[in-house]
Amino acid sequence: MGLLDGKVALITGGARGQGRSHAMALAREGADIAVCDISTKPRTTFYDGPTAADLKETERLVHELDRRCVAMEADVTDRVALGRFVDATVEQLGHIDIVCANAGIVSYNSFWETTDEQWDDTIATNMTGVWNTVRACARHMIAAGRGGSMVLTSSVAAFTPAPGASAYVASKNGVVGIMKSAAVELAQFNIRVNSIHPCTVNTPMVINQPTRDMFGGRSGVTHADVEPAMQALVLLPQTMAEPEDMSAAVLYLVSDAGRAVTGVALPVDLGMQLVPPGGWR
Ligand SMILES: NC(=O)c1ccc[n+]([C@@H]2O[C@H](COP(=O)([O-])OP(=O)(O)OC[C@H]3O[C@@H](n4cnc5c(N)ncnc54)[C@H](O)[C@@H]3O)[C@@H](O)[C@H]2O)c1
Repeated sequence: MGLLDGKVALITGGARGQGRSHAMALAREGADIAVCDISTKPRTTFYDGPTAADLKETERLVHELDRRCVAMEADVTDRVALGRFVDATVEQLGHIDIVCANAGIVSYNSFWETTDEQWDDTIATNMTGVWNTVRACARHMIAAGRGGSMVLTSSVAAFTPAPGASAYVASKNGVVGIMKSAAVELAQFNIRVNSIHPCTVNTPMVINQPTRDMFGGRSGVTHADVEPAMQALVLLPQTMAEPEDMSAAVLYLVSDAGRAVTGVALPVDLGMQLVPPGGWR
């Protein structure tokens, strides 16, 4: 018996990273899974994007857990493509009970040098993409009358703005607004909506050479070089969280364990909220 037997979970940005981890964690608890991804590198990011093979691999891993899986290339900023993905999920898996609006991108620049493209792409993906996902899924979930739970992925950046990430910070604050509005309006249908706020997570979005070089201010910066600075940002004695830590929070929120929780912005951040500017260490 799994915690999510008979449930269907729809996850955006599931080709790798936290999205894939959520797919595995929820499938392990008995949920059938639908994942989408763009499976390519967006124009304004400077880290590699996933490939079609990565999305296939998520599908294979879910099948290995004996769960059904719909895996489709769909861009959360493209309402037509996203609508096709949501419709295909309902057609093939019957209904939607759980939504993880997880897809996101990041790029860095000073406030004044942020390009139109950086702003537009970040807001379109991280904020409008989440709104597109919530709206499309809510329509099906309301019609099905089964209740449900949504987890929107924001960031600690919504609480503590990192310099050089104004578009990201704005987009992740927008996610909190979407979460609270959806929680208020969907509660009458027994659909709960919460957000998670990760600190640094060990995924290709941040654990890559260009990001290390940017933070280190030179090329060839190693992980060991930046570890002390990363440790100073958090309380617990580890430099970053793992995708599985975020999936554990998602599992709590979408299972019956979280049945009394809605409208909550949950930090999953190694204690980052209590670290003063400049750090304790
Ligand atoms: N990694 C971190 O340190 C960290 C910290 C806080 C919040 N987050 C957030 O966590 C979420 C997951 O990121 P991750 O760490 O797994 O990074 P990731 O880059 O490994 O995964 C993000 C996935 O989203 C997909 N994606 C991007 N744009 C998309 C679009 N328009 N349509 C569909 N899919 C799209 C990417 O292709 C990728 O597979 C993101 O919302 C991110 O902002 C990450």
